[in-house]
Amino acid sequence: MKIQLIIGSTRPGRVGPQIANWIIANLPERLETEYEIVDLADQKLPLFDEAMHPSMNQYAHNHTKAWSEKIKEADAYIFLTPEYNAGYPASLKNAIDYLFHEWTAKPVMIVSYGVQGGGGASAQLRQVTERLRMQPTPLSPALTIGRDMSGEDGQIKDINEAFKPYVLSLYEAAEELLAIASSEVAVVA
Ligand SMILES: Cc1cc2nc3c(=O)[nH]c(=O)nc-3n(C[C@H](O)[C@H](O)[C@H](O)COP(=O)(O)O)c2cc1C
Repeated sequence: MKIQLIIGSTRPGRVGPQIANWIIANLPERLETEYEIVDLADQKLPLFDEAMHPSMNQYAHNHTKAWSEKIKEADAYIFLTPEYNAGYPASLKNAIDYLFHEWTAKPVMIVSYGVQGGGGASAQLRQVTERLRMQPTPLSPALTIGRDMSGEDGQIKDINEAFKPYVLSLYEAAEELLAIASSEVAVVA
């Protein structure tokens, strides 16, 4: 089983990659499960520029075809989102909107972060995953980044210590993800 963790933020100096690495280090280890970080900053997707609705599978651009192939590799996803102005970032919505069938029926765990945990972003993103007929986990870890946690470089100073309170909730949500992903009961794609 392959699970991709998609880093939703793309700005220089972001903490998304640091949190992604912390998540990967704290996920349940299973022999049959492989985790991969997919960084949207590497995909370099322009603002959505396909003429046809993605459900038609008629992609005109190489960047869309490459993004589609990358996402098709996985059986389930972790959407990692910061909260920007009470929502999730445009970079993540843009990347999601490029595709359609690639997402259908796939299990997804939403992990949010922000100065108040990013619950608003998480709730909005859940609506989107439901519209795409994905299977979101009931639990969505929300990581609070307190002001005293960040160093001068903007990164979290001691992430293992700072996020210790979230280790269990992350693990439990990930167990839900793995259970849904290995379930025989599938949503009709
Ligand atoms: C444009 C912008 C808007 C933000 N709005 C919120 C917000 O509404 N709620 C919140 O909890 N944090 C907010 N923050 C703080 C971010 O969640 C925090 O800086 C986080 O580290 C951003 O993720 P990133 O570093 O991966 O870009 C905002 C940050 C930015 C850059």
